[in-house]
Formats: sequence, structure tokens, C-alpha cells
Amino acid sequence: MGDTISMLFENVIGQSDLKKTLALYVNAFHKGEVFPCVLLNSAPGAGKTTFCRELARELGKPLVEINASRIKTVKQLVNQVFREWQGKEVTFFIDEAHALSKPVETFLLSAIPTGSQTSVTVNYSDADGNDGPLTFDYSLMTIFMATTEKHEMFKPLVDRLYVLTFEEYNKEQLASIIERNLGFPLLDCAKEFLPKYCRGNARSAAKLGVDLRRYCIVNDISEVDELYAEIAVDELGLFLYGLNSEELKTLKIIADHPNGITITQLKAKTNLNMNAQRDVESFLLRNSLINVKGIREVTNAGRRYIDSLKK
Ligand SMILES: Nc1ncnc2c1ncn2[C@@H]1O[C@H](COP(=O)(O)OP(=O)(O)OP(=O)(O)O)[C@@H](O)[C@H]1O
Ligand SMILES: [Mg+2]
Repeated sequence: MGDTISMLFENVIGQSDLKKTLALYVNAFHKGEVFPCVLLNSAPGAGKTTFCRELARELGKPLVEINASRIKTVKQLVNQVFREWQGKEVTFFIDEAHALSKPVETFLLSAIPTGSQTSVTVNYSDADGNDGPLTFDYSLMTIFMATTEKHEMFKPLVDRLYVLTFEEYNKEQLASIIERNLGFPLLDCAKEFLPKYCRGNARSAAKLGVDLRRYCIVNDISEVDELYAEIAVDELGLFLYGLNSEELKTLKIIADHPNGITITQLKAKTNLNMNAQRDVESFLLRNSLINVKGIREVTNAGRRYIDSLKK
């Protein structure tokens, strides 16, 4: 089984639990079982599209990618997508699934099998005279969905899907993604140093790798040690821990208040809405840069971080 997993996903790094589950589904599929309807759930840039493309290749069926925000009605989904693929082998990838409208979600709910059903027939008709049964034959077709906002989806639909959630990437995995995009191995010290700029995220690591490659080409560098890595991230305008400008601004405001600052005062200064403010604070908290005990205070690590930026 271990060998099969590495063969199945040789292009993707990490996510061992997810790979194990998907490898089980793939192997069972090759022995005649139906591949379940899967919902890939993660923060942006964790690899949902990458995994889905790998899987479609492995299942050996054409991949049809559908961005949910472009499907406005059930009619559109049925007549422009599902009818065309009736009776044919296909993998559908419905991306940004939280953007599906409620009627489309309800329709999909009726098309997704429960238990060991291999086929579902839905009677469909619309005002334009398109009617007749639609068969969802899961020995031919597979449905994948992906979302960054599972909580916004229709709960009965989510309950029927096999939800697979991505883990954060660790330091070694981020370093491997950087190296893959850089095109040559990093020295150990750079492997320690660079992942701190990727906030546990595969896309950040991939982008950093590509940017670093450009930097190395322009500066004729064939080995990235810690010094070159430091200069490069400085030139690329990257902040340690992968802080974005809102997070940095919030941290600086909190640090400017040695006795702490209330959430109301902080919001007045950052101009962020409640959700954005919560995301910013939770990231700063996870990296131990602030404390939240009613009031918001900078930690010693947070202060050291700000001081290091002034150097
Ligand atoms: N496990 C992985 N191993 C190697 N590279 C990866 C991995 N996951 C993602 N990447 C790289 O990170 C980038 C972003 O991945 P991808 O587009 O699949 O993420 P996503 O979850 O679909 O993002 P979004 O939420 O924005 O749709 C791609 O360039 C991809 O090559
Ligand atoms: Mg994607």
C-alpha cells in the first residue's frame, strides 16, 4: 500500500493521511468499487486543485473543471454540463463549491449516492422543455468538489460528501516544495530558514521557490545558504512567518501600546471588519506574537520581531 501511495502521488508533497484515504479509494475503484463523491477542504493554496488533477489522471478519465461561481442555475448545470457527459467516463471537479446557489446545491444533493448505490436517476424538467431522466452512473463518473469555506455550504450536501481536510505543511515539506520550484537543493541552513516565510502554505512555498530561482539566475547563485536566503527574502519584501501587511500593521499598533489595547481601540485603528480582524489576530496568536486576555498585548517574541525589522 505504501508503495502505491508514493507512486500515485509522486508529484505532491506531504498530506500523508489524505493520500492514504485517496489511495484506498483509487485502489478500490480499480477493483470495481465506486469512487465516492469527495469534498476537499482547506485554506487557499493548500493543494486542492493539484490533488484533484493528480487523481483524475490516476482514474484515467477526462477532467472537467467547473468553477461554482459560474454556475448560476440548475438548468445551466444540467444542460451545459451533465447532459453532455451522460453515459461517458468523466471526472467533474466543482471548485469553490461554497459559491453554488442553494437550488444547485439541492439538485446535487439528489444526485449524490447514499450508501453503496452505484447509480442515481434524477427526473429533470425545465421551462424550456428540456426534460427526461438524468442518470448519474458512478461507475463512469466521479464528482470532486473543493472549498475554502465549508461552513458556508448546504449542510445536508456536505453530510453526503466524503470530506477530506488538508493539514498544515511542516517545515520539511515546505522546504521540499521550495526546492522543487527552485530547481536545485537548498543547503540545510536555508531549509531551516526559508519555510518560516511560508505560513504553512504550499502556494506560498511554491511562489517563494520560483522567486528564489529568478533571484539566483539574476545574481549567478548556484547554492542558497542562509545569507543568500536572508538577502533574497529581504529583496522580495517577505516578512518572517509570512506575515501580510495587515498582520504587520496590527502587530505594530499593538506593540505601540505597552499597557495593551482593547479590541474596540484596535479595530478603530486597523479599519478591518470583524472577520478580517479575527483572522489577523488568530494568525498573530498562533505565532505567539501577541497575547489576548481581554486586551491585546505584544509578547516578547512579537517585540523582538518588530525590533528585527528596524535593523
Ligand atoms: N502537496 C503539494 N506538493 C507540491 N506542490 C504543491 C502541493 N500543494 C500545492 N502545491 C503547489 O502550490 C500551488 C497552489 O496549489 P493549488 O492551486 O492546488 O491550491 P488550492 O488549494 O487549489 O488553492 P485555492 O484554494 O486558491 O484554489 C500550486 O502551484 C502547486 O503546485
Ligand atoms: Mg484551487
